[in-house]
Amino acid sequence: MIDETAVTDLLARERDPYLDADLLSARLVRELQVEGDAVGVRLVLPYAGLSAGQALAGRLRTQLEALPGVTRAHVDVAVEIPTHAAARGRPPLPGIRNLIAVASGKGGVGKSTTAVNLALALAAEGARVGILDADIYGPSQPRMLGAMVKAEAHGGGKRMAPVVRYGVQSMSVGYLIDAETPAIWRGPIVTQVLNQLLRETDWDDLDFLVVDLPPGTGDIHLSLAQQIPLSGAIIVTTPQDIALLDARKGLKMFQQVEVPVLGVVENMSTHVCSHCGHEEPIFGTAGGERLAAQYDVPLLGSLPLDLRIREQADNGRPTVVAEPDSELAARYRAIAREASARLLRGGNEQAAFPAIRMLDD
Ligand SMILES: Nc1ncnc2c1ncn2[C@@H]1O[C@H](COP(=O)(O)OP(=O)(O)OP(=O)(O)O)[C@@H](O)[C@H]1O
Ligand SMILES: [Mg+2]
Repeated sequence: MIDETAVTDLLARERDPYLDADLLSARLVRELQVEGDAVGVRLVLPYAGLSAGQALAGRLRTQLEALPGVTRAHVDVAVEIPTHAAARGRPPLPGIRNLIAVASGKGGVGKSTTAVNLALALAAEGARVGILDADIYGPSQPRMLGAMVKAEAHGGGKRMAPVVRYGVQSMSVGYLIDAETPAIWRGPIVTQVLNQLLRETDWDDLDFLVVDLPPGTGDIHLSLAQQIPLSGAIIVTTPQDIALLDARKGLKMFQQVEVPVLGVVENMSTHVCSHCGHEEPIFGTAGGERLAAQYDVPLLGSLPLDLRIREQADNGRPTVVAEPDSELAARYRAIAREASARLLRGGNEQAAFPAIRMLDD
């Protein structure tokens, strides 16, 4: 005979590392089934944290099977991302639950590389993901995704199907015009083109659309940040002072338009020599950390300057899919888990979750 209280006590003791709450009060336990000598638990995570959830499920199973009367325990994990309050209550976009902007002030800090690896990492952590290349002067996502193709139009040429690579849906002006054709659009037209890319693509049931913004904090950025219903923004910076200065502008801009900044990613934080493995902080140290502390946003993680990151992205197979078990991929995945969990804090989305369902009778 299984003591049900012992089971629920156990669930109330085990904590979710990202939500800073136990499994019951975080309402992660969606189903609990006690039958004879068997216990079945179904966990549903509201953030992209499949790997962490599976580790948790493993621990839980061992603990459950150690309870008196339990011979078999089954723990199932799924990810279900809610829609987070978009800034200023703008109407949501069809097919997209959450938009996350990846921005930097300064160009060339690795924004696009970080954005694509982050998108792939969110997907690897159980979310349905898309990426919008919002850099219409220098689109880089087609190359990074190994998708030098043309987008398929339908609906009388009015709508486009996203290009799918590695399970991620993508749209870029690079799918519409030749890479060699110089785009000479100016201000208002840029925003119009971007709005079209965003709204005329048939995004299919996305938990997250990662928006890879062009460098800068100019008018285009401001009008985009105001027009599209962003759930949050991530700032990429390198540790040197000049990049940090520009990153500050980015941070301020999002704060002004009331888009929550989920955190800072420090890219190229150290250089790892591909010959001897020696690690050197060539762009200075702890810049991202200082920036994060100053603006009271978390440092989501840091990536070293590593030849593999560049080569793999250049070859159309970013690190998260090229070397999924590498330490570098693990860093991107940790950033993905943390960023998506950050979306939950401060909101009251938890209230929308159904209460635990007891299936025993
Ligand atoms: N951590 C890293 N290690 C090594 N190379 C990197 C890293 N991050 C980015 N790179 C490389 O640096 C270059 C610039 O990166 P990327 O295009 O992502 O920057 P960006 O900020 O999007 O640039 P832009 O401002 O032009 O949009 C690319 O060649 C990329 O492969
Ligand atoms: Mg870029």
